[in-house]
Amino acid sequence: MVTLPKNYIDLHPEVEAFLSQTLPMYYGGKRAPAQSGKTFETVDPSTGKLLANIAEADQADVDLAVQAARSAYETGDWHLKMTPSERSSCIWKLAELLESHKDILGQLDALDNGKPFASARDVDVFWSAEHFRYFAGWPTKIEGSTIPVSTPGMFNYTLREPVGVCGLIVPWNYPLLMASWKMAPALAAGNYIVLKPAEQTSLSALYLPKLFEEAGFPPGVFNVLPGLGHKAGAALVAHHGVNKIGFTGSTEVAKEILKSSTGNLKRVSLELGGKSPNIIFADADLEKASVGATWAIFGNNGQSCTAGSRLYIEQKVFDEVVSGMADETKKIKVGPGMQLEPSHLGPVISTEQMNRVMGYIKEGYDSGGEAVSGGQRIEGDLSEGYFIQPTIFKNIDDEAKINQEEIFGPVVCAMPFKDSNEILQRANDTQFGLAAGLWTKDVNKAHQIAAKLQAGTIWVNTWGNTDAASPFGGYKQSGHGREMGKEAIELYTELKSVWMRIDG
Ligand code: NAI
Ligand code: MG
Repeated sequence: MVTLPKNYIDLHPEVEAFLSQTLPMYYGGKRAPAQSGKTFETVDPSTGKLLANIAEADQADVDLAVQAARSAYETGDWHLKMTPSERSSCIWKLAELLESHKDILGQLDALDNGKPFASARDVDVFWSAEHFRYFAGWPTKIEGSTIPVSTPGMFNYTLREPVGVCGLIVPWNYPLLMASWKMAPALAAGNYIVLKPAEQTSLSALYLPKLFEEAGFPPGVFNVLPGLGHKAGAALVAHHGVNKIGFTGSTEVAKEILKSSTGNLKRVSLELGGKSPNIIFADADLEKASVGATWAIFGNNGQSCTAGSRLYIEQKVFDEVVSGMADETKKIKVGPGMQLEPSHLGPVISTEQMNRVMGYIKEGYDSGGEAVSGGQRIEGDLSEGYFIQPTIFKNIDDEAKINQEEIFGPVVCAMPFKDSNEILQRANDTQFGLAAGLWTKDVNKAHQIAAKLQAGTIWVNTWGNTDAASPFGGYKQSGHGREMGKEAIELYTELKSVWMRIDG
């Protein structure tokens, strides 16, 4: 039984019961321990203390889970035996269940990730449900076409079919939401999924079997394998029974995945990191831009693939914007996501991540940077957790490591620029291309710059918006493929061309 700090909000009784067991994996409609009997721990990053023990999947469990998904696929329990309308209803029902369990799922993600309970519930769970609702509309709309081929006497049409068994490997920054981004389109397209949550944040994923069962999904359609990346994740990627891998995580692991997916040349889609440029022009609404740029980086504690981590501010308003951001940052309350007095930001996810981020902060100082705000780990009452002050650096070169590599923590570098020509070249000078943003009141300039920035998503006078209906993904080393919208349906389907002689 976990004991949490006294200043935490009361646990939902279901959360308390859930955490009091060794959490099993789930495949073929059944809960199971690891074949090896092994377990691993998940801890509260606000305290470093144990939250729960979890069954640890390795090759043997991956084999069983993939087998369960494959046999459901072979018999067509989901994509053939159910009508599109029935699949729609199941997916919609799941969305409703996510919503009616938002307190439970929100607490699980808040405990496991450290983020504020209100964000976990009202942002992550809310948008997860929205995602399922959007994709619930798709099963009845996935169509092929009739094609006017030039061969005489032939009728040709296409069928859009599920890819088959999809391994979905997700990170810890938005545990339920990142899983939902992949599960919803995969299921809408008629696939059978094996979800591998991040080892730091498996709790919400492990609560899902109950909801999938209640929503009426047949056994084997949804399977979840908790475990470590280099074991369970790697085994899933290499498995010949898996037709596709959908991955969100680091660029480094993505390269490993591409290499080890070659055994059966499975399809791979990758949503990776970023070092997104956020550009503030002097003609912007500077107050809004300062607040916007502050949250572009510090939202979710900088642990977002789209974090606005390279901040370019037009020279003549540089000091004004930076001081506006420093003021905004002073208002940010950092603390455990589950504490009674609400915080805006929680800890970073792990000791490993804290050391990584503090290493970059040290690089910042070493390369001559000045911290306008933050720049330290938070100790005192919070010293058991992985808390870092939201940090704004200035006086750092574009080429510095801290300005080129993804930090994935609450650290931003602010840099002045002279004009539009200069800024485009500098903004695009990165290995990544996930997102970029600009702030200006000049509509022409906004369109011109948006067209030239090399990134999958551009935000103008805003930051961070995504929607199930709008494609999302990266240029360059930020990934392959687009999630969301009709593009996600393409990502999770095969297209079959059927030829038929009709001239007798
Ligand atoms: P990671 O890429 O190692 O982990 C993401 C997921 O991949 C987890 O589920 C993990 O278990 C799995 N994984 C790890 N190694 C694997 C392998 N060999 N085969 C298959 N699956 C594997 O990310 P990590 O180590 O947790 O964080 C390190 C850095 O990666 C962060 O600081 C950040 O820069 C970046 N990152 C980016 C994310 C994004 O949303 N773009 C999300 C998470 C991390
Ligand atoms: Mg890793």
